[in-house]
Amino acid sequence: MSQTALINLDGKSFELPTFEGTENEKAIDIAKLRDLSGFVTYDPGYKNTGATKSAITYLDGEEGILRYRGYSIEELADQSTFIEVAYLLIHGELPTVAELANFEKQIQSYTVVNEELLAIANAFPASTHPMCVLAAVVGAMSAFHSTDEAGDDEENILCLLATLPVMATWHYKKSLGEAVNQVDKSLDYCSSFLQMMFGKKGDAYLADPIVAKALNKLLILHADHEQNCSTSTVRLVGSSHANLFASISAGINALWGPLHGGANQEVIEMLEAIKADGGDTAKYVTMAKDKNSGFRLMGFGHRVYKNFDPRAKIIKVAADDVLKALGVNDPVLSIAQHLEDAALHDDYFVARKLYPNVDFYSGIIYRALGIPTNMFTVMFAIGRLPGWIAQWKELRTNKEPIGRPRQIYTGATLRSFVAISER
Ligand code: ACO
Repeated sequence: MSQTALINLDGKSFELPTFEGTENEKAIDIAKLRDLSGFVTYDPGYKNTGATKSAITYLDGEEGILRYRGYSIEELADQSTFIEVAYLLIHGELPTVAELANFEKQIQSYTVVNEELLAIANAFPASTHPMCVLAAVVGAMSAFHSTDEAGDDEENILCLLATLPVMATWHYKKSLGEAVNQVDKSLDYCSSFLQMMFGKKGDAYLADPIVAKALNKLLILHADHEQNCSTSTVRLVGSSHANLFASISAGINALWGPLHGGANQEVIEMLEAIKADGGDTAKYVTMAKDKNSGFRLMGFGHRVYKNFDPRAKIIKVAADDVLKALGVNDPVLSIAQHLEDAALHDDYFVARKLYPNVDFYSGIIYRALGIPTNMFTVMFAIGRLPGWIAQWKELRTNKEPIGRPRQIYTGATLRSFVAISER
């Protein structure tokens, strides 16, 4: 049933069309509101603004539902591989056996990174934050690939999927002063990443299957999350027809922030700070409730999930499995457990629906796997890459217009310029 929205402004009534998505999400199309009435809508942080129509990811924050292309995150995390999910997100359908094998082979064929690109990565001091290196290198990939309108998007996509893990491990090995491992093309994506990361050059190294499985799950859970900060950035940059590499590089920078992907690093840093301060979690819960303290519990709260984060539910089980299997006994992890218990039973957190999010547990798993804290957000970027690519592709395929929000100007009204000599 089609409805219209009636809006009364300055004594006049305006009718605006509405529409529904396939999961019955309702929207008012306000595109013509300004032309009709002179009013724009105001929605800082886009908390209630649908910026696009998208067929990639469905998320219901109230019900804790997350689906990629219609498939539930629970089924995908349990039964799929990260590369299969990447194919699904980017191409819209699950691959056949032959399509998946071909996709994997093609990605592997791009793992030999251009020497000049490696030279760019090498120019950064070893102490540089890996997100800075990743964003810069991905941006620089524009220089080595055809990116004009006639360019081969498919080739660039495969190249990006292959390059991110190589560049991430390259910088890590450099920071340790160690030689970089060759990619072992007989390994799957996650085992190959772990081999590049933890294997010593020349030595045979095979990742623990439990670890590779947990990593596979983590990457799947991060693969897309509809119009979040970094994805919206990718789409906004892409909407100016900036190329894939430039758009993804912008997304990596957006992800870096502590309120977004940077939260997983901040979680562990916060837990370590609590430990160093005597491990009094109650003190930190009190501080998080005090608006003047400027302190927030990192890894708690989410813009859209207001009951629970379905990814956190899956990852909590995986975290428990990994810790048990690896026999990890880390005091920081018991602080995490206390903090979680304290916050989940505290009125402030309950009233505001602040639950542990995916970053709370992903930081814990990455730490148990031996991934350095400053690489946690890089792991998130590797996971989110297929989603960014799919969203960029959708934007271009749908020929969406350039993104250009409005504003409500609140600055000075017209005033006369005063010459410097008279000030
Ligand atoms: N600790 C303490 N209080 C919090 C927290 C927190 N982690 N998160 C929100 N609040 C409080 C706010 O102070 C506010 O209180 P008020 O209503 O009394 O003013 C209320 O909860 C709502 O907070 P908002 O900031 O308005 O919520 P918003 O939806 O804009 O922000 C966000 C969501 C950014 C994730 C926020 O919860 C936060 O900063 N969390 C910590 C950082 C984090 O874990 N980020 C990762 C997000 S998940 C991801 O990117 C994959």
